[in-house]
Amino acid sequence: MAKTYFKTWSKQIDQKPDLTMSAVEGPYFLTEDEKWLADLSSISYQAAFGHHHEYIANKIVEQTHLFCVANPKAVFELKTRASERLLDYLDLPEAGRLFYTLSGAESVENALKMARQLTQKKIILCRQRSYHGASLGALSITGDWRNPLHFTVDEWTVRIPEPADDPDLSKTREIILKTGVENICGFCLETVTGGNGVIIPDQEWWSGIQALCDEFKLMLIADEVICAFHRLGAPTGTALFNLKPDMVCLAKAITGGMVPFGALWVAERHAKTYDHDLVLSQGLTSYAHPLGLAAMEGVLDLLTDQEFQIHLKAITKIFHDFFLAIAEFPIVKETRVLGLLGAVDLHSPISQESLHEKGLHLIHFPDRLMLAPAYTFTEDQLSEHLADLADLLERVQ
Ligand SMILES: Cc1ncc(COP(=O)(O)O)c(C=O)c1O
Repeated sequence: MAKTYFKTWSKQIDQKPDLTMSAVEGPYFLTEDEKWLADLSSISYQAAFGHHHEYIANKIVEQTHLFCVANPKAVFELKTRASERLLDYLDLPEAGRLFYTLSGAESVENALKMARQLTQKKIILCRQRSYHGASLGALSITGDWRNPLHFTVDEWTVRIPEPADDPDLSKTREIILKTGVENICGFCLETVTGGNGVIIPDQEWWSGIQALCDEFKLMLIADEVICAFHRLGAPTGTALFNLKPDMVCLAKAITGGMVPFGALWVAERHAKTYDHDLVLSQGLTSYAHPLGLAAMEGVLDLLTDQEFQIHLKAITKIFHDFFLAIAEFPIVKETRVLGLLGAVDLHSPISQESLHEKGLHLIHFPDRLMLAPAYTFTEDQLSEHLADLADLLERVQ
């Protein structure tokens, strides 16, 4: 690899061959050795409409002819219209307002700042196993290998057990009482733990979390950076689990990754505090970036199209049938799937090369496969690629 820039999340010189790309076509990309690969993980879950989508790209291009930079404080038609449409689409249980960002980490970071300011409390309860972003605040509540390396501000973080280790939340309740309700701002939780393995809490656990929030007046910050925009089969995961979040963090599929963009939804009962009482001391140079808003409108057009919804149902069935078909294969240890997000844990690792030989590219650990296919695969394409993956898993011991 050229040593003029860093490669993310890795030693700069490692054994793995570099991933290359020289062209894209829908959910496929061409490597420099002339192999077309079907991306079954939507890059890092953001390319929900493929590596290229003509309709979203045209929305961005149309906006470039009008203006592609705007004063962050400016009111303009696209900003007003796209915000109303996003609020309509999210269909959260109460009114809310949006704070725009450029990434998932910034959505989480701004949620933490706002929640601490509003409650005047510092401690955030978060899961042992989670990812919330690479900035220091978001990383401090992340529970994976990336956290300990960076001297994050851990005295403001208290970890709760994983749902499987505390199904009735009695341990979490004890942690709250021991920490002192007066010190706790609230929970920040992924609705489904995404990148760390598609860990899906059950309804009982989520209802228990909501009950603890209600009882102790704790904020519920839902990190939906992976889950929202139909990844779990609904606009948000909070809707699936009947939650009443105080804040919802959004990014990734909000623009299909085609423009770096994100948003934080804040319940109106908190947002209105900034009307007269508090100064909103948060902002970004590229806040509500017009190209991000244009791409987001394109995404909303697609997701609210009736025919596209029928297509999503059809590919979701194909996806779930694949999980049923592979469940008993000897190499398969466990599978987890919800909507169009799934993980396959394997008894023995398989190589990215063997996946590439089959024309497939996946986030791969190597004893876990993460599947989050683009919504734009046709039924035939997705069936064919999943059949190829099943074939590979059936033959590997
Ligand atoms: C659940 C979750 N939250 C936050 C983030 C951070 O998003 P970004 O990489 O856009 O900053 C990620 C990224 O993978 C994520 O999966």
